[in-house]
Amino acid sequence: MEKVYTIKEVREQVKAWKKEGLSVGLVPTMGYLHEGHASLIQKAVEQNDKVVVSVFLNPTQFGPTEDLEAYPRDFEADCKLCESIGAALVFHPEPSEMYASDFCTWVDMDVLSKTLCGKSRPIHFRGVCTVVSKLFNIVTPDRAYFGQKDAQQLAIIRRMVRDLNMDIEIVGCPIVREEDGLAKSSRNTYLNEEERKAALILSKSVALGKKMVADGETSATVVKEAMIKKIESEPMAKIDYVEAVDGLSMQPVEEIKAPALVAMAVYIGKTRLIDNFIVEE
Ligand code: PAJ
Repeated sequence: MEKVYTIKEVREQVKAWKKEGLSVGLVPTMGYLHEGHASLIQKAVEQNDKVVVSVFLNPTQFGPTEDLEAYPRDFEADCKLCESIGAALVFHPEPSEMYASDFCTWVDMDVLSKTLCGKSRPIHFRGVCTVVSKLFNIVTPDRAYFGQKDAQQLAIIRRMVRDLNMDIEIVGCPIVREEDGLAKSSRNTYLNEEERKAALILSKSVALGKKMVADGETSATVVKEAMIKKIESEPMAKIDYVEAVDGLSMQPVEEIKAPALVAMAVYIGKTRLIDNFIVEE
């Protein structure tokens, strides 16, 4: 497996692969990889001749008071994991390689980025759309892989690709969880023992909402209220949002019917965690 740090090297390698007629999959990540990321890389390896994993802690998607500095990093462990799954190349650029000091061109999105996480993280999705567009332009993959864990991000990337006519297939992958239900996240490392236990309230609340919908409840208000009550039973939890939205537009709905997304962000101590479930036909 190759480790490369410059855009030029990625372009040269991808060009050589394409000359041979090989397909290319891209898995964009911010590093500190876990089994959630691994599931995306695995899927990409199954569906493409060559897989590129980008490991780039993208500064432009973090707000000024967010956890960019504290975000965990372990590039050597990330490379070992990528290699063990069969990735062909890891792209690990410095921020200066991705952003010139006078960088001023942004890819931004209306509507979908204004709800859910976009409310408390107003510049987040502009940073995500911009860096993912750049990675798409650098790697020019046939397919790119994103997790359902970040359901709003996945919906936004799908919309961006459609709206800007990017010739890339977006593949969504299911949420990978710890044995006790907690969605895997690089940010779980912030939790102390007591918080780790308290964090289970997210997946418990998701399970409750999912069961209510499976049992035929369609009122968003009823489902949200039950989920909120569940979360509030945990004293260490502070709700950012619990919302039911249309799965394509990310706008709130009153009736939960496919395709819908029921999503939440909850603080456990200082750590902001997200979880969700989707309602399909
Ligand atoms: P990061 O948080 O590192 O996540 C990279 C990818 O892994 C995302 O598509 C995310 O949804 C997926 N992922 C994370 N945890 C998962 C889990 N438990 N189950 C399934 N998939 C999971 O998301 C980002 O980075 C960035 O915003 C990025 C897209 C790389 C742009 O900077």
